[in-house]
Amino acid sequence: MIFFDNQHKIFHLQTNNSSYVIGLYADKLLLHVFYGKRLEHLMEPFAMMDKSAESEFDWNPKCMELGEKFAPCEQTLEFPTFGDGDYRPPMFHGSYGDGSTVTKLYYTGHDIVAGKPELLDLPSAYVESDDEVQTLIITLQDALTGLQAYLYYTVYEKWDVITRSVRYDNCGTEPVILRYVDSAAIDFDRMDFDFVHFYGTWARERQMERRPLFHGDQYVDSTRGATGHCQNPFVCLASRDATEDYGEVYGLNLIYSGNFHSGAYVDTFGKTRLYTGIHPFDFSWKLETNTQFQTPEAVMVYSPEGFSGISHRLHPFIRQRICRGQFRDVRRPVLINNWEATYYDFNEEKLVQIAQKAASVGVELMVLDDGWFGHRDDDHSSLGDWYEHRGRLPGGLEPLAAKINALGMKFGLWFEPEMISENSDLYRIHPDWCLHVQGRRCSEGRHQLILDLSRPEVCQHIVDTLSSLFTRVPIEYVKWDMNRNMTEVGSAAWPAEQQREVAHRYMLGLYGILRTLKQQFPHILMEGCAGGGGRFDLGMLCFFDQIWLSDDTDGVERQYIQHDSSIGYPFGVMGAHVSACPNHQTGRTTPIQTRGYVAMPGQLGYELDLNQLTTAELEQVRQQIQLYKELAPVFHEGTFYRLCTPEAEQHTAWEFVSQNKKTVIVEIFTVQAQASAPFRPIRLKGLQPNALYTDRYTGKQYWGDILMEIGLMRSRKHDFDSEMLILETD
Ligand code: DGJ
Repeated sequence: MIFFDNQHKIFHLQTNNSSYVIGLYADKLLLHVFYGKRLEHLMEPFAMMDKSAESEFDWNPKCMELGEKFAPCEQTLEFPTFGDGDYRPPMFHGSYGDGSTVTKLYYTGHDIVAGKPELLDLPSAYVESDDEVQTLIITLQDALTGLQAYLYYTVYEKWDVITRSVRYDNCGTEPVILRYVDSAAIDFDRMDFDFVHFYGTWARERQMERRPLFHGDQYVDSTRGATGHCQNPFVCLASRDATEDYGEVYGLNLIYSGNFHSGAYVDTFGKTRLYTGIHPFDFSWKLETNTQFQTPEAVMVYSPEGFSGISHRLHPFIRQRICRGQFRDVRRPVLINNWEATYYDFNEEKLVQIAQKAASVGVELMVLDDGWFGHRDDDHSSLGDWYEHRGRLPGGLEPLAAKINALGMKFGLWFEPEMISENSDLYRIHPDWCLHVQGRRCSEGRHQLILDLSRPEVCQHIVDTLSSLFTRVPIEYVKWDMNRNMTEVGSAAWPAEQQREVAHRYMLGLYGILRTLKQQFPHILMEGCAGGGGRFDLGMLCFFDQIWLSDDTDGVERQYIQHDSSIGYPFGVMGAHVSACPNHQTGRTTPIQTRGYVAMPGQLGYELDLNQLTTAELEQVRQQIQLYKELAPVFHEGTFYRLCTPEAEQHTAWEFVSQNKKTVIVEIFTVQAQASAPFRPIRLKGLQPNALYTDRYTGKQYWGDILMEIGLMRSRKHDFDSEMLILETD
């Protein structure tokens, strides 16, 4: 997996299908040599690099430690810093006791170890046994200041993924102020790429956008204190000719849930630097002598097979080496959630009626959403007061949970633990426990403030409160919501010069809380949520078994969100619900079949009062649930193919092929019907060419090669129609 060629000073990191090559120049500086298709040879051509290391331009400053002809700005660098003549965004920028901001971190040694060392305090990808990965740890030192950097590269050979992070150790005599602490930068000798990212807003998260690179900086980011609805840390560089199945695509993601930036900088020579990390804006960190700072981990993936190749590598990697715990490999319960059924207008009797109907059609878990606590009659109060609303639940949660359990269902509960309402007992006791700046009025989002998780005592309070509830009430599922972004980011607990650490310390506090609760209550299934998909990222997926993808439950708009999200994330981590019509977000009416088929590839749930459905609709729901219980392993563990794209083709078509390749599910949705639409076959992918597939519903038989080369002829009828085919072979 990892080779070091001592003669040519080359590190070669090799996965099944990719190579990542780093060179050591003049025994000091790390150069980035290559990332792309797997190379079978170690790199003799390093000599070629030596030549190109000689600058022919007087104008570009030369870094004299590296030779009088070496101009950093002309090179592809592995670990760029600021101050020696490279003018692109650095991975590291800091300031020292003398006020200077120049850093020269040079190689002092390296180690190649089996397995993967844990990151300090931050979530990361993991291993199940040391022999499945190797980690390269390169040590760099700044001789003048004593700052050390350890660069970690873990090679997930079988998954075709390499992860990267940096740990800083202040071995000097004075504090270092960290400003830029990016997790990865990958330099390319070319700029003929498109920058691909996923933008959105509340209820319209992660819409793919693709633009040719231009000279200068192009990036997506968040300064919201969460990854956010508007951008996602996952970005790609795609060759200009790359399509769903062809061409080179590089994917980069970050295992982090707070402020980030992910971008591509194209310099004057047409070289591209792809980067990701904690957002440097409004961030600094005082690194005291003999203390360490850990960057979040970046995930790098290369596909020579277009965007599908990115998904086919990232989906198993996320499922198997980011997601963890006892729910990872099992089918999760089909749930009913009362939010869109009742909002705040419920009592025990109403909830039990919803649960009874749900149990009768096969639902396995009842989730009581917002409004069960304090005096929460609307969203103006009570966050922080995690005890029962006696007006609604006079007997408390236990009798309700008992009634749900008696129906053969598990009981789940909604929380928003990071928040505090001004109108709450908790705020009256601890008014300084929220993020705030002394003397300034706090902005409110959804009438609430954010608890200051940079303070250990606040984190401990959340752990204690939730632990005692989890112990008292038989809760088997938690929906962990978070409904606003940060403003007036400040903490009463930290001195002036450390206020810009607060947003990151908040994330460390949150991760600490989740780690403790997960360890104490491994049997509780946890679903993350942030007003829908406002914190849908790999950091959260290290703790949450699934994430509520979006507050948009419309059967059509969901196709777009799920389709584009699936480029970087597997369906099995997406909470997906069937809701009532007309839809509460769009007013659209779609058939219950379509709503069911759209939700089924995700973690299926229902979010409506099933008592309001007709008998025929209810029967469809019963059949959907039955089918889902059978097919969930194909949806969640099979290989997923995007066949038709809703944006481009007015149709969405998804295909799931089971691990043993014997079952194939094809879902086809009409987004918008067209008169005189051309009749176009849908070509399937990933089948066995010589296998004969039988359509479960019609009994018709098709050869694999015919389905892949000629395709399925389907007639398309009306807006929002849908169809599911199940093809089976022996
Ligand atoms: C936002 C979530 O995304 C919804 O599903 C619901 O739980 C509400 N919050 C409750 O306030």
